[in-house]
Amino acid sequence: MFQFPETFLWGSAISANQAEGAFREGGRGISNIDMIPHGADRMPVKLGNVAQPALDPDHFYPSHTGVDFYHRYREDLALLAEMGLRVFRTSISWSRLFPRGDEETPNPEGIAFYQDLFRECQKYGMQPLVTLSHFDIPMGLVEKYGSWRNRKVIDFFLRYAETCFREFSPYVHYWLTFNEINILLHSPFSGAGIAFQPGENRNQVIYQAAHHVLLASAQAVRLAHKYSAENQVGCMLAGGSFYPYSCNPADVWESVQKEQENLFFIDVQARGGYPSYAAKMFREKGVSLVMEPQDTEILKTCTDFISFSYYASRCVAGSTEDKEINDGNVVRSVKNPYLKTSQWGWAIDPLGLRITMNQLYDRYQKPLFIVENGLGARDTVEPDGSIQDDYRIDYLRQHILAMRDAMEDGVPLMGYITWSAIDLVSASTGEMSKRYGFVYVDKDNAGNGTLERRKKKSFYWYKQVIATNGQCLDWKEPHRTEHRNPPKRVSAE
Ligand code: BG6
Repeated sequence: MFQFPETFLWGSAISANQAEGAFREGGRGISNIDMIPHGADRMPVKLGNVAQPALDPDHFYPSHTGVDFYHRYREDLALLAEMGLRVFRTSISWSRLFPRGDEETPNPEGIAFYQDLFRECQKYGMQPLVTLSHFDIPMGLVEKYGSWRNRKVIDFFLRYAETCFREFSPYVHYWLTFNEINILLHSPFSGAGIAFQPGENRNQVIYQAAHHVLLASAQAVRLAHKYSAENQVGCMLAGGSFYPYSCNPADVWESVQKEQENLFFIDVQARGGYPSYAAKMFREKGVSLVMEPQDTEILKTCTDFISFSYYASRCVAGSTEDKEINDGNVVRSVKNPYLKTSQWGWAIDPLGLRITMNQLYDRYQKPLFIVENGLGARDTVEPDGSIQDDYRIDYLRQHILAMRDAMEDGVPLMGYITWSAIDLVSASTGEMSKRYGFVYVDKDNAGNGTLERRKKKSFYWYKQVIATNGQCLDWKEPHRTEHRNPPKRVSAE
């Protein structure tokens, strides 16, 4: 019978911009995500269609308060430790350390905050896995330099990264450079602070910015290794294979091209240079990359492992005529008639995780790390105060089984991190009602609620999964007697 290795890293994740809040406290500067409102005006800003986004008192900005992790991290980490997490993934808010982004020296209050947070993890024996940039760049760099479109931003990022390695390497050994690097293709402002000017060649801007991000990532890997031999650094992909809609070669070819587009950045980060198909892709997109002579050499530094998020597979066709489109996913695709979808239209495909894992390992031959997997769903607080999220347990269970199958196929996997540890603001929609956590947070889409934390049924289930090192995935029922929270008000969402 299959056994997970004793060292297998079971974990769960949050990100600074979706959880911390306290957007102007502790000397923190404004970041790109702070400019993205909830509601109808969200998408134009998020996609970079607003050339100069500005804060507006008539809008609600979910990241400004998040779920108040900044003030409640001790209480939250204690809960996660109770669940038995071996690894806790979070990100550092760049603008907490460098409020404008171009300062010479970091903000000591920001450093103290993260040192304390990581010490707290250490106290419970939870390894932190830290993303340097999880959809996060100081607005100072966006406004003054045009964000990653400007090569100077690489140096500011490296100063920030070096600060993190210097100050936090005693507590942190697992690092990711950029969260879901490929998302900057689909959501340029939230992904990388890129806002377009009218008439620009968007592909040129995006791929030039991505080139700078890739140079920054490669140099950060080198720095991490310099600071500690124990540091291991991963790239991070928004994963999920592109299936051809049918065996029609036109559909298959479309899927090959979409895979290339999707894996483009990981090809650079994991293989040390632009892939063979880059030249044609650039030509077709009208992109002419500005490179300096040393760039090819810089890009040769690869990441140590490949991390990825997995929520859904995608499906594509040579022609989308007469095909239903699945608009739910950030990455637009054709609706797969074989798959059910979540309440937000994301295709649910556990076998797709096994497929993705096999494909990624075949391609890169480096250890994999699943750093996000989970189900965004509406939860209900029952009159007795419990949250019976069996649908989430079922989703996670099926994905863990598929992951186990992939490991039996021979794919080396460092760990499995769910999204998310506690409920937080949705990155795509800005809603609170799209909940992923094991811990419920009393807050609604408009920002109302007590912020009280409440363990869901899945909390007890995941605790059991970790305690049995993945052997026991079926739920045994002790949670109701363990449930301590008295019933309280339920937010209207
Ligand atoms: C990933 C991100 O895209 O998916 C997370 O790294 C995000 O930040 C998660 O929250 C789920 O997406 P969403 O849009 O449902 O929050």
